[in-house]
Order: sequence, then structure tokens, then C-alpha cells
Amino acid sequence: MKQLWTFFFLSFLCSGLFRRTHSEKPKVVKIGSIFSFDSVIGKVAKIAIDEAVKDVNSNPDILSGTKFSVSMQNSNCSGFMGMVEALRFMEKDIVGIIGPQCSVVAHMISHMANELRVPLLSFAVTDPVMSPLQFPYFIRTTQSDLYQMDAIASIVDFYGWKEVIAVFVDDDFGRNGVAALNDKLASRRLRITYKAGLHPDTAVNKNEIMNMLIKIMLLQPRIVVIHVYSELGFAVFKEAKYLGMMGNGYVWIATDWLSTNLDSSSPLPAERLETIQGVLVLRPHTPDSDFKREFFKRWRKMSGASLALNTYGLYAYDSVMLLARGLDKFFKDGGNISFSNHSMLNTLGKSGNLNLEAMTVFDGGEALLKDILGTRMVGLTGQLQFTPDRSRTRPAYDIINVAGTGVRQIGYWSNHSGLSTVLPELLYTKEKPNMSTSPKLRHVIWPGETFTKPRGWVFSNNGKELKIGVPLRVSYKEFVSQIRGTENMFKGFCIDVFTAAVNLLPYAVPVKFIPYGNGKENPSYTHMVEMITTGNFDGVVGDVAIVTNRTKIVDFTQPYAASGLVVVAPFKKLNSGAWAFLRPFNRLMWAVTGCCFLFVGIVVWILEHRTNDEFRGPPKRQCVTILWFSFSTMFFAHSMSKENLLCHWLLFGF
Ligand SMILES: *[C@@H]1O[C@H](CO)[C@@H](O)[C@H](O)[C@H]1NC(C)=O
Ligand SMILES: *[C@@H]1O[C@H](CO)[C@@H](O)[C@H](O)[C@H]1NC(C)=O
Ligand SMILES: *[C@@H]1O[C@H](CO)[C@@H](O)[C@H](O)[C@H]1NC(C)=O
Ligand SMILES: *[C@@H]1O[C@H](CO)[C@@H](O)[C@H](O)[C@H]1NC(C)=O
Ligand SMILES: *[C@@H]1O[C@H](CO)[C@@H](O)[C@H](O)[C@H]1NC(C)=O
Ligand SMILES: *[C@@H]1O[C@H](CO)[C@@H](O)[C@H](O)[C@H]1NC(C)=O
Repeated sequence: MKQLWTFFFLSFLCSGLFRRTHSEKPKVVKIGSIFSFDSVIGKVAKIAIDEAVKDVNSNPDILSGTKFSVSMQNSNCSGFMGMVEALRFMEKDIVGIIGPQCSVVAHMISHMANELRVPLLSFAVTDPVMSPLQFPYFIRTTQSDLYQMDAIASIVDFYGWKEVIAVFVDDDFGRNGVAALNDKLASRRLRITYKAGLHPDTAVNKNEIMNMLIKIMLLQPRIVVIHVYSELGFAVFKEAKYLGMMGNGYVWIATDWLSTNLDSSSPLPAERLETIQGVLVLRPHTPDSDFKREFFKRWRKMSGASLALNTYGLYAYDSVMLLARGLDKFFKDGGNISFSNHSMLNTLGKSGNLNLEAMTVFDGGEALLKDILGTRMVGLTGQLQFTPDRSRTRPAYDIINVAGTGVRQIGYWSNHSGLSTVLPELLYTKEKPNMSTSPKLRHVIWPGETFTKPRGWVFSNNGKELKIGVPLRVSYKEFVSQIRGTENMFKGFCIDVFTAAVNLLPYAVPVKFIPYGNGKENPSYTHMVEMITTGNFDGVVGDVAIVTNRTKIVDFTQPYAASGLVVVAPFKKLNSGAWAFLRPFNRLMWAVTGCCFLFVGIVVWILEHRTNDEFRGPPKRQCVTILWFSFSTMFFAHSMSKENLLCHWLLFGF
């Protein structure tokens, strides 16, 4: 037994030694980072990533004995530059990339990451279509726009608006975001009336924006969702302000591009702030924590107070931390950092001048990816862990309202419980929060500095009118009649009902009445109804009776002038003569009844006539007694006087 234990102990030691020799940690691990240096997100991310690398290298708990070295490349949000810079990374033997920042670049280099097995930890790509099936090495450490659009749809639904206009930048980021918005609206029976795509180049000319805005002005909805890049967004708001579209009646909902700018360059220049008064803005929600507060304090020293921290800075910091923890686990599990040549690139590269064979495949990529996805940590952005479909758990957004020189927090949206004024992290701890009691959002100061909720639509100037046929009646003018001296104006009960119904609709319906008939006699209603099917009218208003024939070709409203349901049945007069009392039974029944009485009388006579004086006398009298007895059994009235009984009987009969 002792020997066995010693054997186990030795083998355990050996295996431990073995492993250590095999997984010798490198002194330096190279990671890359791709983002747009000139953008607001990029500027903040650069400082945050540097700081995170510094923290990893100085923290003995993470990756002890190994240092991170990060190299950064500017993709400038161009697919081409992103691809070139990514290629340059791949020949440097890096184990992971922080970034990219733009969806366009993400779509490009994710293919490369798949092939060369380098995990991408993107802190700012919110494009919802980056599927983990197609791009397994793409890890999103921020929240997908799917949730942001869900939040916007919730807001639109909450205020009871039905239709919105989407202004977006026409590239992967904007297009896929708006597609998600469309889906989320559709699931609430709302819709996008008009999608206005803008050129993705930052140097969009003013005329293009102006034309788009004028087109929007002529439409019915007054709710505009704007999902673009920063500079483009401010350019749109500037022109909108010029056109008076930042005033009363309009609602603008901006996605997180605006909150990033509001956070980072606070205060915003006065002329910019002036153009975005009353706008609703979404910002990814990050729970408050001591760690976060401390980081904000540190930030002032780091950035030299020139640039304030925004949410994406926090995501960038957490991405580096996540990669470090993933690597830590990777090394602990005995992983090696080794690279091998890509078989296909090896042959391809030699045939041309491009140095393609220099690109190497990270052998431990798959294991590292698993370690990263399995990591659970609490970072600056709260609990960082992934659902099976690779999105971050507990997505939530802040909803803010630009008012005066600052912003007001009017509520939150969380995937768990929708809109509320309660912090999402408090709601996530509850099983099923009772949302019926708390207010969903605080008051908003809408564009035009008003507290009243905009209606959300106007009568459009160029909308198609509904053609409504109206009979030119000669009689019963109370129902419909033309107002004297006008062509298309009508009055009457039917018109009043119709107008009231149209006014109840939550959107505008422009209507044009078209008279039908010659005005000398009542027109044929059947023919008028038929004109709906031929397309001459979109509908008909009038005292049109609902008959079977007509219901087959058109839909009728509920009857609004009805006499109620009536059943019509044939009627036959019954005669009530002296013999009416016989009617309950038929003849046979009466005969049987009579026979029964007679039978009873005879039986009683047989039993009684020897002893009872009543049953004595001449045969004629005895017969009468038998008959009388059977007759009177009906009334148990043998004791009554015969006259009295007869009276009874006669009264009963008649
Ligand atoms: C980034 O792109 C813009 C226009 O797309 C260009 O003006 C600028 O020079 C580019 N910057 C870099 C560093 O490539
Ligand atoms: C680590 O690298 C060594 C060669 O350097 C190799 O023999 C070993 O199998 C590698 N271990 C893992 C887990 O890949
Ligand atoms: C990979 O390719 C480089 C350059 O083409 C070559 O020097 C090296 O030996 C190759 N390595 C392997 C493992 O094939
Ligand atoms: C968001 O909510 C839906 C429905 O409740 C759920 O199916 C989904 O998993 C949630 N997403 C996340 C990331 O928690
Ligand atoms: C929520 O609270 C309201 C008022 O307190 C109560 O009437 C309602 O039953 C509660 N709903 C649930 C699901 O607990
Ligand atoms: C309505 O019914 C009549 C006969 O009762 C028929 O002649 C006529 O074609 C029908 N009209 C329509 C529109 O079905």
C-alpha cells in the first residue's frame, strides 16, 4: 500500500515537472490593436489600452513573468487600410488583436483572423451581423446594436408612436443597425417609413444632407432615429437646425455615437450643443463601482484633462484585461506560443512578389479563444462574460436627454425588464420585477423646449389622399348631403361618424370626398359599392345597407345606425273556441282517460253496490252513479253536492 502511494506521489511530481518544462512562458507576448486614431473613440481607446497594458504588466496576479507588448495600427475606418494593417500584424507573430473599431474593418479582417487563428477582441464594433458562426475568432466585448435598437423600439412604443424615419450611414455599420431596428420595430407592429442612407465619407457635402432633410420634412412621421458617425451626425443636426427641424413637433433619437461625443468632449462647443437640444440619446450602461470611480480619477491625470473618458474607453480597457486573463489561463493549462506556416500561403507567396508566406498561424489560437470565452471577470464595464451566442450578458442602456448645457438621465433600458427608471443591475437581481408600479421614464424636454410629448406625425404635404365616394342623395339628406356651393364638402350623420373615426387614428389620413350620382335621383348603391372594386374609390361613406350581395365584394364597418338583430318568422292565427280546453291532449288520450274513469267506476260499483246505499236503486240510477263517480274522482269531490260540482266543472271547462 505504501509503495502504491509513493508511486502515485512520484508520478504526480513527474507530470508536474513535465508540464513545466513544456510550457515555458515567454518573457514578452505581442498583441496588436487596430482602430481609428483620429476618432473620438480611438483617441480615448489609445490611452485606455496603454493604461491597461501598464496595469497588466505591473500586476503580479495576471501573467506573472510575462509582459504584454502592444503595437497599434491606424485603420482609419477604411476596409482597405484595416486589411493592410492586419496583414502587417500577422507577420509579427501576435497572439491577439484588440479591435477593430469599425464594422467595415471587422468584416474584412475577421476572415483573416479565422484563417490565422488570432482572436479579435472588439471593443467598439456594434454591428449585429458579426455572427459567431461565420467569424468564430471575433469576440465582441461591447454590446450589439441588436439591443440598442431594441431599446429604441421600446422608446418609440412607449410613447405610442407608430412610424419612424431612419437616417443612417450607408455602410455595414449603419445598414445592419437599421435592419435590426426594422426587425425590432416590426415585432411591436411599428415600422420605418423611410430610410435615408448617407454617404459614409466624412466629407459629405452639405447639399446631400439638405436634400435628404427636405425629403424627410415632407413626410408624415416626425420621429427621426439617427445612426451615423460623429462628424456626419453633427453635420445633419446643423442643417436640421437651419431648416427648423430641431423645433416643436420633432423627435430625434440618436444612437451611442452622440453619447460618446457628449461624454468625451464635455462641454461640447456651444454651437454644437445648441443644435442638439431635446435629443434623446442612448449610451451603453456600465454599472457604477469603486473600481470605475477610481479609474475616472486616474483618467484625469492620464489624459491631461484634454479628453474625457467615454464608455468605449472602458470597453477597450476591459478587452485588454480579458485577453490577459485568457492568456493567463492558457499558460496555466500548459499552452505554448508557437506559430506555423500556412500551407496555402506558403505555396502562393512564393509565386509572387508579395511576402505572403511570412504570415503565420497561431497554433494555440483555438485553445486561447476557448479560454477567453470561458473567462468570467468583473471589469470597469461590470460583469464580463458571454452567453452561448457570444453576446455579453445583461445588455443595458442609459437613456439621456440633452437639455440646456448638459444632459439629463431619464431612464434605463435593460434586456431583462425593458424601460425603467431603476438601475438595471438592481432589476437583474430580481426574478421578475414588478414594473407596473414604477414610472418607465422621467419627463423629457423635447425639441422646442416643451414638456408635452410630440404627437409624432403631421398631415403630410404630399401624401396620397384616400378617395372616398359619397352618394348625392335626394331624399333623407340628414344622412349625407353636399354642403351647398361646394364641390367636395359634405355634411350629415354618416360624414360625422366617419370624421370622428378618422380623428381617432394615431396617424394622419388625408381624405378626399368624391360625389357619386347625378343629384336628381338617389344613385344606385350597389353600383357605387362596385366602384370600390374597380378602383374608382378607396372607400364609400353613406347610408349603405349591408346586404349579402355587397358583403361579398367589400368589407363593411360595424353598423352604426342599426335597429338591432331581428328574427322574422311566419305567423299563423290560432282559433280559440269553446273546445279549446281539449287541445292539450289528442283524441286518443281523451278516450283512454275516459275509459280509465269508467273502469274505475265499474270496479268501485262491483265492490260497493252490496253494502253502500248510494249504489242501490233501479239499474238506470246505478249506471248514472257509476258514471258520476268516475267523473268526480278527478276532483276528489264525492262529498260535494252534485250541483256545486257541476258548477266547478263548467267553470273549469270554459
Ligand atoms: C483617414 O481618412 C481620411 C478620409 O477618409 C483622410 O483624409 C485621412 O488623411 C486619413 N488618415 C490617415 C492617417 O490615413
Ligand atoms: C509546447 O511546445 C513543445 C515544443 O516546444 C511541444 O513539444 C509541446 O507539445 C507543446 N505543448 C502544447 C500543449 O502545445
Ligand atoms: C515557414 O516559412 C519560412 C519562410 O518562408 C521558412 O523560413 C520556415 O522554415 C518555414 N517554417 C516551417 C515550419 O515550414
Ligand atoms: C435578452 O432577452 C431575451 C428574451 O428575454 C433572451 O432570449 C436573450 O438571451 C437575452 N440576451 C442576453 C444577452 O441576455
Ligand atoms: C405589481 O404591483 C401592483 C401594485 O402594487 C400590484 O397591484 C400588482 O399585482 C403587482 N404585480 C405583480 C406581478 O406582482
Ligand atoms: C346581387 O343580386 C342580384 C340578384 O338578387 C344579382 O342580379 C346581382 O348581380 C347581384 N350583384 C352582385 C354584385 O353580386
